[in-house]
Amino acid sequence: MSFPELKNDLLLRTLKGEAVERPPCWIMRQAGRYLPEYKALKGDKDFFKLCQTPEIAAELTIQPVLRYDGLIDAAIIFSDILVIPQALGMTVEMVEGSGPHFPEPLRTTDDVTKVLNHEVNVLRDLDWAFKALTLTRHQLDGKVPLFGFCGGPWTLLVYMAEGGGSRLFRFAKQLINEKPDLALQLLQKITDTAIEFLAQQVIAGAQVLQVFESWGGELSSMDFDKFSLPFLKQIVDGVPKRLQELGVKEHIPMIVFAKGSWYAVDKLCGLGYDGVSLDWSWDPKEAVKINKGRCSLQGNIDPGVIYGSNEVISEKVKYMIEGFGGGKGKYIVNFGHGTHPFMDTEKIRFFLEECHKYGSA
Ligand code: CP3
Repeated sequence: MSFPELKNDLLLRTLKGEAVERPPCWIMRQAGRYLPEYKALKGDKDFFKLCQTPEIAAELTIQPVLRYDGLIDAAIIFSDILVIPQALGMTVEMVEGSGPHFPEPLRTTDDVTKVLNHEVNVLRDLDWAFKALTLTRHQLDGKVPLFGFCGGPWTLLVYMAEGGGSRLFRFAKQLINEKPDLALQLLQKITDTAIEFLAQQVIAGAQVLQVFESWGGELSSMDFDKFSLPFLKQIVDGVPKRLQELGVKEHIPMIVFAKGSWYAVDKLCGLGYDGVSLDWSWDPKEAVKINKGRCSLQGNIDPGVIYGSNEVISEKVKYMIEGFGGGKGKYIVNFGHGTHPFMDTEKIRFFLEECHKYGSA
């Protein structure tokens, strides 16, 4: 497929480890609920319907890039991590004001076996995702690179077992502790699907990929080594292999975000990803020391900073960028987690402007 030429390759150069003029900036959940233009377009439409309508998904993806023109160096496709459970045959609804809901979560061995036996056809069942990526890549017209993404296998297992968000993680913990072999089989099935999904996202137009292991921090270090890390490793090894089979010659950079898994940062930095995204629990200088230049680091300011005054934002941006080495390479500005629905768009603009200011100094 041929696409418009990329005009801003700052993020891609950074992920190659090149020296750069300033750190590239983007923010997790940059498209969505805090944007008035999102609310206007969404109205009372169903969330997954938005994702599945390529024209709407493209428009929503590009909204923050237009609003923060010149301040944001990447777009992330408007979709959700829960589309893999859908491809595995599960029903997922997005309940207005409360979040994802699975009417039939995985609670018994039979429930899991049903998913294991489900014949996945990523190209057919997620065809809308690929159409949305292709259309978005064209409409972006090379302004910034486009992220594809998926959920980490453990995080998807959590949603599939719990049936939504959770506080105690009772059902996911039951699965990995009562039936670890079954849990591993399920994680394998999710991983195989994720590899195919990510590779096909690249074919459709994604230029960089991120894996969101958002519930990483719910695992002990020992369990992370068993139920998350090996699958994150399979993904970073498997996607390039699959892309080669599909005839893609260039290297497609990949970033991993394991929220809360502070104990695993050293291992994550050595896993083979081009970037490791950090939440705010890390002091930037400590993370740089542990990484030893193996990959680019991304993050990690607490998005809560957006509720602060301009002075507070400036102070914390300066601390972050200096801590990550000034931002002239191997560093990507981001939040430590996503935007909140209540955030002021002008404060976010100020945050981005400050990142440019301190990152260019
Ligand atoms: O800019 C973007 O990042 C947009 C694309 C995007 C969405 N979800 C859109 C969305 C991405 C990358 C995601 C990833 C995602 N989804 C994650 C990983 C990142 C993270 O936050 O840890 C997770 C855990 C989910 C699951 C999910 N989707 C939840 C828990 C919820 C409800 C709560 C919430 O944060 O909004 C969603 C809904 C969702 N996904 C919305 C959007 C814009 C809100 C829909 C609405 O109410 O209008």
